[in-house]
Amino acid sequence: MTDVRIEIAKDGPYRVTGPIELIDSHGNAVSVVEGRRVLLCRCGGSATKPFCDGTHHRIGFDATTAASRDDSAQPPSST
Ligand code: FES
Repeated sequence: MTDVRIEIAKDGPYRVTGPIELIDSHGNAVSVVEGRRVLLCRCGGSATKPFCDGTHHRIGFDATTAASRDDSAQPPSST
């Protein structure tokens, strides 16, 4: 089994390559098989959340984000 890969597109979505199981707030699951990719909205403007619909281009989404190797930075705990 291949590991999940998450790429952050410059001023765009998260590109997530499966295998993953995406579960929405209603408990509905979307399976993404190994090697397939989904684009998850990062700008908040998509009409098809959690998926990207290209709105980030139209609204000029600007997100300067770089992955940090700072070991003191801890991800938030899940709820
Ligand atoms: S990141 Fe593409 S619509 Fe939000």
